[in-house]
Amino acid sequence: MSFIEFIHQRHSTPPKHLVAPAPSVDELTIIINAAESAPDHANLKPWRFLVIDTEQRAALGELLVQALTRKDPHTRHALLERERERALRPPMLIAAIARITPNHQKTPDIEQFLAAAAATEHVMLAANSLGYGTIWLTGSRVYDRYVMTGLGLHTDEHLIGLINIGSIAPDAPPKQPNRRSVTVAYWQG
Ligand SMILES: Cc1cc2nc3c(=O)[nH]c(=O)nc-3n(C[C@H](O)[C@H](O)[C@H](O)COP(=O)(O)O)c2cc1C
Repeated sequence: MSFIEFIHQRHSTPPKHLVAPAPSVDELTIIINAAESAPDHANLKPWRFLVIDTEQRAALGELLVQALTRKDPHTRHALLERERERALRPPMLIAAIARITPNHQKTPDIEQFLAAAAATEHVMLAANSLGYGTIWLTGSRVYDRYVMTGLGLHTDEHLIGLINIGSIAPDAPPKQPNRRSVTVAYWQG
């Protein structure tokens, strides 16, 4: 398949269709190294990735539940259980982290976030090219400083996504990629 075909056919895999095995350590090296070739103004490498392996998912679920309870001690039990379960659905998660150098002379914060997002997409594409399914998920949990601190993030670091990753279940229905209409025009001056 050509690279253009690969890009056009890229699609996310819902967490319920992600199953074991997750990528091996060697495969993860290949996957995460794909970030290194992302576009990056002033070569700041404003990203890092934190692998949440199968055995650590329950602890992540606990952290997400604590974060919800802290915000609202009356959060319904069913919601807490759903949050706990969210961390357990994929066999592995990769926390995508933007590491911001504040007040950088050349590279405003937004460009650093954009570079981290580009790096995250590289990681997902690399995983997809090895045959793994991925989906980029966020929600308010991801932007909660309590969750970030629990994951060990520094104050200049921001969680920008929990990439769910795993093998694609054999019974997952084939997915038609979303064909979004891209807005493009030629500027007429
Ligand atoms: C920054 C970012 C955050 C996202 N967060 C969520 C999310 O929390 N929940 C969700 O259902 N989809 C989220 N998505 C969208 C999915 O990752 C996915 O792109 C979408 O379901 C469309 O499917 P496709 O990738 O197969 O076209 C997010 C995408 C991006 C780029």
